Amino acid sequence: MDQLEIKNLTLTFGGIVALQQISMGVRRGKIHAVIGPNGAGKTSLYNCISGVYKPTEGDILFEEESILNKKPHQIASLGIARTFQNIELFRHMNVIDNLLLGRHHQFHSGPFSSLFFWGRALREEVKHRKKVEEIIDFLEIEKVRKKVVGTLPYGIQKRVELGRALAMEPKLLLLDEPTSGMNVEETEDIARFILDVKEELEITIIMVEHDMGIVMDIADWITVLNFGSKIAEGTPSDIQSNSKVIEAYLGEERL
Ligand SMILES: Nc1ncnc2c1ncn2[C@@H]1O[C@H](COP(=O)(O)OP(=O)(O)OP(=O)(O)O)[C@@H](O)[C@H]1O
Ligand SMILES: [Mg+2]
Repeated sequence: MDQLEIKNLTLTFGGIVALQQISMGVRRGKIHAVIGPNGAGKTSLYNCISGVYKPTEGDILFEEESILNKKPHQIASLGIARTFQNIELFRHMNVIDNLLLGRHHQFHSGPFSSLFFWGRALREEVKHRKKVEEIIDFLEIEKVRKKVVGTLPYGIQKRVELGRALAMEPKLLLLDEPTSGMNVEETEDIARFILDVKEELEITIIMVEHDMGIVMDIADWITVLNFGSKIAEGTPSDIQSNSKVIEAYLGEERL
């Protein structure tokens, strides 16, 4: 049984068809890449999964339950976290605080409960800080943990954003162009961390990525979109030799 099932998903904006009858299944514990030229509908698909856009037609099931009518924070609480095509972090806050905010939906003690049950709030705080430190170790960003995010190199900011998503302890992670804007070394680093997330943390990953080297290296399965439609799916070797895919990318010089 697939962890995430997308069924006949269609999304339109006025006359623009961003997604057309997309169906795909994402297997638990795998890295599933979604690729396609600019404007193919990749980010729109993420916005539908995370509840930001409401599809015109179709359904999305997460662990066999429809999430179509849920709000973004409810979908996050079910265990779906994401990173963004353009980094979305609190630039003026330090790394630790950004990661703590990633755990926000797990804070149980509000201002009143902490007044009466301050012992519990304190225990929770300690637990959250411990988890955040574990993620900081995992992503090897100890040295910058107290640095203000906006002052860090771009590649490290992207890693912090991955950390913020991991701080939610998701079951499914949506990455939107995790290597964009990175140099070769930063790209190799993040690819290794993405593999570690899959293998050590056992989190399912959907990865939108333009760097075909990374996709072919680490994806277990690939879905290809073009102009809002699914044009192919398969293993990296299937996709590399698929004529429809090659045609869609002609002129893009990416494959
Ligand atoms: N909020 C919106 N309003 C109107 N049109 C939109 C909106 N969001 C996306 N679109 C349109 O939907 C189509 C798909 O866009 P989307 O951002 O999903 O593509 P993408 O595959 O992520 O592209 P890229 O590789 O450039 O990030 C485009 O034609 C885009 O202009
Ligand atoms: Mg996009």
